[in-house]
Order: sequence, then C-alpha cells, then structure tokens
Amino acid sequence: PKAIKSKIGSLVAHRNKRVRVSGWIHRLRQQKDIIFIVLRDGTGYLQVVLTGLTAQIYQALTLTIESSAEFTGELKEVPEGKTAPGGHELVVDYWKLLGESPGGDAAFTNQLNDKTDPSILADLRHLVLRGETASAVLRLRSALLAAFRDTLTSHDLLEVTPPCLVQTSVEGGATLFKLDYYGQPAYLTQSSQLYLETCLPSLGDVFCVQESFRAENSHTRRHLSEYTHLEGELAFITFDDLMTHIETLICETLDKLLANHASAALIKQLNPSFVPPSRPFLRLSYASAIDWLVEHGIKRQEEDEHENGVVDAEGKPVMVDHKLGDDIAEAAERQMTDIIGKPVFLYGFPAELKSFYMKKMTGPDGTKGGYTFTESCDLLMPNVGEIVGGSMRIADMEELFAGYKREGIDPTSYYWFTDQRKYGTCEHGGYGLGVERFLAYLANRYTVRECSLYPRWPGRATP
Ligand code: 4AD
Ligand code: MG
Repeated sequence: PKAIKSKIGSLVAHRNKRVRVSGWIHRLRQQKDIIFIVLRDGTGYLQVVLTGLTAQIYQALTLTIESSAEFTGELKEVPEGKTAPGGHELVVDYWKLLGESPGGDAAFTNQLNDKTDPSILADLRHLVLRGETASAVLRLRSALLAAFRDTLTSHDLLEVTPPCLVQTSVEGGATLFKLDYYGQPAYLTQSSQLYLETCLPSLGDVFCVQESFRAENSHTRRHLSEYTHLEGELAFITFDDLMTHIETLICETLDKLLANHASAALIKQLNPSFVPPSRPFLRLSYASAIDWLVEHGIKRQEEDEHENGVVDAEGKPVMVDHKLGDDIAEAAERQMTDIIGKPVFLYGFPAELKSFYMKKMTGPDGTKGGYTFTESCDLLMPNVGEIVGGSMRIADMEELFAGYKREGIDPTSYYWFTDQRKYGTCEHGGYGLGVERFLAYLANRYTVRECSLYPRWPGRATP
C-alpha cells in the first residue's frame, strides 16, 4: 500500500499503517542484525528499526549520526515492557539517505559535552541547537510567547510592532548602540515604551514583543546585548492596577502553559521541581528593602566619585552597608530573592536612580531623607533577579520638562513624546519583561544565553 507521509509529532493517528517519515538521525545503535535509530524531525523523536538480512541493512551500517534520511515502513505499537518515544516504532522496509554527515571523530557531537569550552559551544551554537535540551528550551520559548500573547489579548491589549531604528533614548545614553543613518545619528532601540505610549489614544492598551538592544559591557548570567522585550502600556490606571496587571500576566500565562500537555511536559523535562508562584506577590518598598539588606548583612561594594568599585590594599572589594539612595545592584538583589524564595515587587525607587519619564509618588511615603520616590517597580524572581521593570509615567507636561532637564536630555527630538501631554494627557503606566530572563526562571537555566536562539553579548555576534 501507498505510505502516508507524516511528521513524527502526528504519527499517532497512523498506527498500524504504512508511513513515510523524514528526519535526522539522532541516535544509532546496532544489535546483531538489527539497527535501532532514533529519528528526529523537530516535532518529536521516533524509534526506527531496520531488520532482516536485506542488502539495505548492510548499507545501513554506513549511516551516521546527524545524517538526514527518509524511512518507510509499518508503524507498530511497541510490545508490552518495551518503551519507545510515542509508544510506537517504525519497522522499515525501505529507506533512503538524503544528506550524509561525517561520522566518527569528525562528528560535532564528539565535541559537545558538559565539559566543553563555552566559546566552542558558542561557535557551534547552530549545531548545539540540535540537542535535546537546547531544542526543548526553544520549544518552550515558542509556547511561552504564544501564551503571553494569548493572555494579553484576552485582557484587551492590542499587539503593535514599533521600530528598532530610533533617534531617542529611553533608558539613558550610556547603553545606546549608535549607528550612522543616512548621515544622521540613530540608535538601536533600548525599549519601545515611548512608542507604546503614543498608541494609547489611538488603539487603547497595547503591547509589543520586540528586540531591545543594550550596549552594556556586562558579562553576567542575565545580560544580553540584544534581547526580546515584551512591553505593555495601559491607560487610565493606578500604580496598584499596574502591579496587579503584571502579576496577572505572569500567573495566567504560567497557568496556560501548565494546562497544555506539550508545554507542561517541556517544563517537567527542563525544571522538574517547578511550582508556579501564588498570588498576590510580595510588595516591598525600596526604602524598606534598604533596611532589609542592612538587617540581613547584605553589603555593597564601596564606590569612588567615578562610580568605580573601591578595593583595599590586597585588592579585595571594600564592602559597606546599603544606605538610602543607593542602587540595589545585581549581587545584592540576587541574594535577596534567594533568601525570600518567591517573587517580590520592589517599588518606589528614588527618582535619581530612574529614567526621566517616571511619575513621582505622592503622600507621606513619597519622600524620605531628602529622596523623592517614584511610582516604579521591579519584579524580582528567584534564581534570576529582575525580570520586569515598570512604572507609572509622568502625565503632566511641566513635570516632564523637569525630568528631561534632570537627565540632561534635549527635548527637541522628543517632541512627539511631549505631544502626548499636550493633546489630552492621561494617567498611564507600563512595563517591560525580559523574555530570556523569564525563560531562565521558568526553565531553570543558569544563564539567559541558553534562552536565546543566537545570543549576543559583548564581543559575540556569531553565528
Ligand atoms: O528595566 P528596563 O531597562 O526597563 C525598560 O526598558 C522600560 N522602558 C520598560 C517599560 O516600562 N516599557 O528593562 C526591562 C526589562 C528588565 O526587567 C529585564 O528583564 C530586561 O528588560 N532587560 C534585559 N534582559 C537581558 N539583557 C539585558 N541587557 C537587559 N536589560 C533589560
Ligand atoms: Mg530595570
């Protein structure tokens, strides 16, 4: 009978029929006159069995790992006591090599293991992707993005696609990638926030999933030079609404992933002990977080007037207590989340530490020790630290000009952003979530570099 062409992931519908499957040889094992192959096509893994003393089996001895090939035969349920992916195996009666791959010592798989030099792994990322773990992370990433979109759409946010080539900075000039744009200066975007704000009067609440770029010379587990930024912006909300929205986004998205058989299996494979966080998330003001750090003896490195870390005569960092006005740096933040062990909203950072657009907090908690706090929040997750940064935005035009001035920004190129305050301003706020950081949390990866298809970090833009 004629064979049915199928992807591995859809085979279950064709049990006990003749099927034809193409893919790459993931594993290969010979046992007397039987050859067992695990075939991979991206949708799943299939056990393929070549048996019988046909001429074909002798040829099959020349098959190598990572060759591509097509196999035709009967799809049989595996007998009791035996296991095979999907619960079935393909008993082959005809096969064809499509693209051969160097076997033996020339096979790239020989170069990849737990002890492989990270720079070799980075150079061979295109081949690393074929592995079971790397491909599972990327499959989960795809499911995660779909689930995020689903959640946001169900809360009436509309997806837009802002530009990557821009002429304004959002998060300060220090981390901008500058480029020549037809003889004029332009940058790669750091955040689409300002564009999302302009969409509110036109489209209502909006979100985007867009690449953001940061020229940060940070060689850490959680910094990339290019990352996928999920940003949302909502009109006519309060600061409390904003934090509740972020919490809802995360929890509903995780619920969707765990309710889906395929994505739940990926989470189980990558992060067996994952438990979704419970609501509401802990909320801790910046001022009380500083007290908390002092109480827990978590210190920061002393800095000189140029913000360089101070060291003692032996070259050891000089550590001091945190005080009001200090930035809570990555190391302290991580220790804090590890001790607390669940998501934390840190909110109310001093205006001096934050960008020009952040709305100031009012009321008795709005100032302390000469610092003015803002309606800003960072969501910290165990194992990663900051995953989301958000805030309410300045709605008042005069206040916005004061913000430009404080940050030394020339308002000229921001005329379109300023115009939002001129033509019917509104209370509004939004946030940005680092997709790779969220995935590092969900899939329990050591670094965000494992959560990007082709990660970019200082000095690395290949492959
Ligand atoms: O805290 P950030 O800089 O905030 C903004 O860009 C706001 N304009 C977003 C907004 O309100 N629309 O960045 C937001 C998030 C961070 O919490 C972090 O998860 C991620 O983006 N992020 C990075 N991820 C990987 N590598 C980097 N270098 C990152 N910088 C920020
Ligand atoms: Mg931030």
